[in-house]
This record gives sequence, C-alpha cells and structure tokens, in this order.
Amino acid sequence: MYGGKDHDKAGEIANEVLKGISGKVKVGAQLAEVCEQVESEIISLGGQPAFPCSVAVNEYAAHYAPLFGDKSTIPENSIVKVDFGVHINGYICDCATTLNFNPALTHLEKASKESLRAAVEVVREGVTIAELGATIHGVMKRYNVNPVFNLTGHTLGRYTVHAGLSILNHDNNVQAALSAGDVIAIETFSSTGAGYVHDRGRPGIYAIVEPKNVRNAVARKILSKVYPERQTLPFAERWLHKIEGSGFAIQNALKDMEQAEVLLSYPPLSEQVGAMVSQHECTLLVEKNGFHVIGGDYR
Ligand code: CO
Repeated sequence: MYGGKDHDKAGEIANEVLKGISGKVKVGAQLAEVCEQVESEIISLGGQPAFPCSVAVNEYAAHYAPLFGDKSTIPENSIVKVDFGVHINGYICDCATTLNFNPALTHLEKASKESLRAAVEVVREGVTIAELGATIHGVMKRYNVNPVFNLTGHTLGRYTVHAGLSILNHDNNVQAALSAGDVIAIETFSSTGAGYVHDRGRPGIYAIVEPKNVRNAVARKILSKVYPERQTLPFAERWLHKIEGSGFAIQNALKDMEQAEVLLSYPPLSEQVGAMVSQHECTLLVEKNGFHVIGGDYR
C-alpha cells in the first residue's frame, strides 16, 4: 500500500542514510555501533526504523542484528551487507547495500547490484514473479554465482514488512503478477556458495505477534513499552536494554514470550562457512506502465 508523501519521505530518509553509509562501515568498526548510528540517523531525519538495522558479514546474508554486548567488528577482506528500513506512519522503505572490502569479490557485488537494476527495469503492472526471477537469475549466471534461493523480495503493507507476495530471485514458474499500486521491495542476494541460508546463532530481532500477558514481570514490562510503539513491527534485543538493564532477565523474558507465542524471533541467516554473500535492495511502487522508486540502492 502506497502512502504518498509519507512514503516518499521514508524513501528520502533511506537514501540520505545510504549516502553516508560508507563513512560508517569500515574495517575495524563495531557492528553494533554501525547499527546504532544508522538507527539514530533515521530518527534524527524524522523517520523511525521499520525494523532493526542488520549488518551481515561474509557468509551471513541477513538478520544479523548484534545482541547487546556484541563487540564484533568488521574484519579485513570482508563483504558487508547493511539492511535497514525507514517508516513514517507505517509506510515503509526497505533497502540494503553492500560494502565490499575484498577485491576478489567484485563480481559477486556486481551480480547483486546489476541483477537488482535489471529487475527494477522490468517492473510494471502485470510482470510475473517468473519474469522477475528469470531476469535476476540471468545476471547471476553471467557472473557465475548463485542467487540465494531461499531469500526473496516481498510486497510491503502499512506497518507490515512482508505483505504476502514473495519475489523469488531464481528461475521459477510462479505466474502471480504485480498489480499497479503494489509497493514492493526487490532484494537480490548473490552467493559464491550453493545459494541456501539457514538459521545460525541467537536471534537479535523479534516481533510481537499477539500482545497477550505472560507471568514474567520483565516480559510484561517489555510488552507494555514495545507494543504501543512498534505494534507488530520488528524490534532489536539490543533496544530492550534501555528498558531493562540485565541481559539475563531480558533473555529469560524473551524466551517466555516466545514460548507463549507472544513473539516471533528472527535469528541470523547464514550461508555455509566459506561462502560469501552480497545483497542490494530497493523499494518501488508498481505503476501501470512502469515504476516509481521510493528509495534504496538500485543504480
Ligand atoms: Co526486504
């Protein structure tokens, strides 16, 4: 669902953050600090994070939102995906870019970047998921890399990051088509590996699915703080430490809430160790004869 001025403003903020990203993402920088900087810049420009900023290094493809206390830094020769979202009144611009510090991976970076551009250029009412997938996969093949088969772009709804339709990054036979008025995020992932990601490590991202009360007092406190502000939009474990100091109590509360099906968790998604992943993403409005770019790195 397109939100007009609010949506375009979310896109402008996203583009502004993207412009400054190479000044923040540097070898030796702390992942958590990059996330904090991106999120606070979004807020200072008048938006809100639509979900926690993710900084995914090398084989990590997505959903790497550092946990509170994570001191890990950007290693030398790495390839780093920064994925963030901006929303204004629930209208979301979802975008991502890659910073590559490894000269041997230039082709991988180009594969995700050029496949995104190619896909954007065929967007119009009636284009099918099959056509988009073939366009993206075709570019990946030219660079001799795989798309990530189990990560997709998606439609965006108001206050909803994944609104139902998945935009596959590989050759497929899905005849579902885009409609004028759809807001979509196309996100292309290229991999030097087999092109499959799996859950790996403790989740740093959560979303409330049903705001019912649980016995745990810390959980009740989290719910009463987070739900009015976020509704069902994702939030970071890291953010909760401003509400409740102790990491142990927070971990227990999150566990209880997950068991009670109040929360969903999103663990980091990783390729096999040794495989490298690149990503580019932008958000578009589908129009009858083309598209309107809301924001993101697609050039
Ligand atoms: Co996305």
